[in-house]
Amino acid sequence: MSRFWKPGSEKPSTLLVDDEEGGVVFLSSSASSASSSGFGYASLERQRQRLPVYKYRKAILYLVERHATTIVVGETGSGKSTQIPQYLKEAGWADGGRLIGCTQPRRLAVQTVASRVAEEVGVKLGEEVGYTIRFEDQTNPVVTMIKFLTDGVLIREMMEDPLLTKYRRKNSLLGSSDDMPNPEPAILSVEGKGYTVEVHYVEEPVSDYLLAAVNTVLLIHEKEPPGDILVFLTGQDDIDTAVKLLNEEIQHRRKHYFDLLILPLYSGLPRADQDLIFAPTSKGKRKVVISTNIAETSLTLEGVVYVVDTGFSKQKCYNPISDIESLVVAPISKASARQRAGRAGRVRPGKCFRLYTEEYYLNEMQPEGVPEMQRSNLVPCIIQLKALGIDNILGFDWPASPSPEAVIRALEILYSLGILDEDAKLTVPIGFQVAEIPLDPMISKMLLSANDFGCSDEILTIASFLSVQSVWVSVRGVKKEFDEAKLRFAAAEKKVVDIRGQLLRLMKRFGIPLKSCDRDMQSVRKAIIAGSFANACHLEEYSQNGMYKTIRTSQEVYIHPSSVLFRVNPKWVVYQSLISTDKHYMRNVIAIEPSWLTEAAPHFYQYRTPNPALN
Ligand code: CDP
Repeated sequence: MSRFWKPGSEKPSTLLVDDEEGGVVFLSSSASSASSSGFGYASLERQRQRLPVYKYRKAILYLVERHATTIVVGETGSGKSTQIPQYLKEAGWADGGRLIGCTQPRRLAVQTVASRVAEEVGVKLGEEVGYTIRFEDQTNPVVTMIKFLTDGVLIREMMEDPLLTKYRRKNSLLGSSDDMPNPEPAILSVEGKGYTVEVHYVEEPVSDYLLAAVNTVLLIHEKEPPGDILVFLTGQDDIDTAVKLLNEEIQHRRKHYFDLLILPLYSGLPRADQDLIFAPTSKGKRKVVISTNIAETSLTLEGVVYVVDTGFSKQKCYNPISDIESLVVAPISKASARQRAGRAGRVRPGKCFRLYTEEYYLNEMQPEGVPEMQRSNLVPCIIQLKALGIDNILGFDWPASPSPEAVIRALEILYSLGILDEDAKLTVPIGFQVAEIPLDPMISKMLLSANDFGCSDEILTIASFLSVQSVWVSVRGVKKEFDEAKLRFAAAEKKVVDIRGQLLRLMKRFGIPLKSCDRDMQSVRKAIIAGSFANACHLEEYSQNGMYKTIRTSQEVYIHPSSVLFRVNPKWVVYQSLISTDKHYMRNVIAIEPSWLTEAAPHFYQYRTPNPALN
């Protein structure tokens, strides 16, 4: 699963002596909180000892003492993230106010792993064990010893403190020639204990993978012995629909179908729902977790015996020619399919039901997925590299090189936003400030420009709203759903207020005063354009169906039906993001005057002309 991030390359202050075979020490102060969660100490400890990494505890501690870098390779769920930080803490690596950091690829993984480890250690989350994700810091600077964080947060910390000093040993022996750690990395393979998984394929391709998944769950419940079911769908919309359909079927079929407990799993899930996912299944019940590919490698669910694999996931795609980054539903790779199947064999032999044919798996599925670096718009990444002092982007030693077109596109945009200068260096102060604001660079630029238009107050609120996934949920007129919708809205709104407070502190630090334009929407729109001018579009004159074309690359785009401007179709618009399903849909759209574009970005709209080949 996760990448384990190790403390710096210094030699630890104490040499580890551990005679007790893999001894695990629980802090006695925490007995009450651990037992109140429903798990006794013994049961939690037994669970820890059953994990594959447990046998390697001493070896891991030995290697980290002697090597600057230790790589632990092990299957998802073998205990790398939850156990190794605890082993290090127990061996004194967090003494003297130092921190043990463990990065996770996703925010939800950070939160759930941190909460699990706090429970295992027997402490309140946010004290000895805490986490930091963007806009949410659940750590205590005085007492936190183990900190889970996203890769992005670690990179931000590196910008402020390139040597990551708080993750280092206090009494570093760097500079001493006798006992310096070996610079060669050590690699340790942690053997897994996966059980066999029987794989089933459909005989004919299915026309509707969502319905097929729902039917397969019902069939498993009818025919197969107890064991939880994990279904891989693509995104929140699909998942909500499947949850609804399954719940309707349960109400309709009644009897032993009431034993099914249907749970959605996607990022942005409220805390209470996260807890349900990891809670042990009660006797006589069968949990059905309907998930995005987050449960493929980032999270491990105990008790899963059946996997339903639709063969699709939502993937980020970036086309440097059209300069469009979007999330699209795309077929998964063989590597993903194998990983998904493996999720069924964690507690005993399991079964995986693939909703595609064996022939398709063997002959058409790609062996590996494309690295994210080659599917992404590079604007945020290049700002981060620049802020870390890495200036030679084209000569950078990428683990998976992006295309030169993508690099050039990103440099062009950054230059036109005034974030990079002619020598491709971060500008002062805008470039450095944008690098410091934890937002999409276009939104950061909008925020920094707001003062010029006298509307920093309004833009601060807009930027905060754009930072949460969505404060809106669809309401289908049912009372219960409506109440839930309101609750979710309230939660998201509270989050927006919190983010606004954090951004306000940053703006104060940059010396940007808070000023309201008193509902002068033209000023607000101009400030938005200062960040998003590159996303300008023009309504096709003879278009009957509201087709727009992007000014830069003449791509066909449409206003999203959920927008208040849907069917209003102003002649010129700027959007903030695109979502691609059957078409490219613009979300968060404002109407503009074309002259504002040349005012905001005279270089940009002077030197770029539409490419006739794309018309
Ligand atoms: O990092 P790696 O994928 O090797 O495994 P891990 O995240 O440390 O998970 C080890 C075990 O902890 C798994 O068996 C998980 O089921 C369990 N775990 C849990 O019960 N609740 C969590 N929130 C996270 C992990």
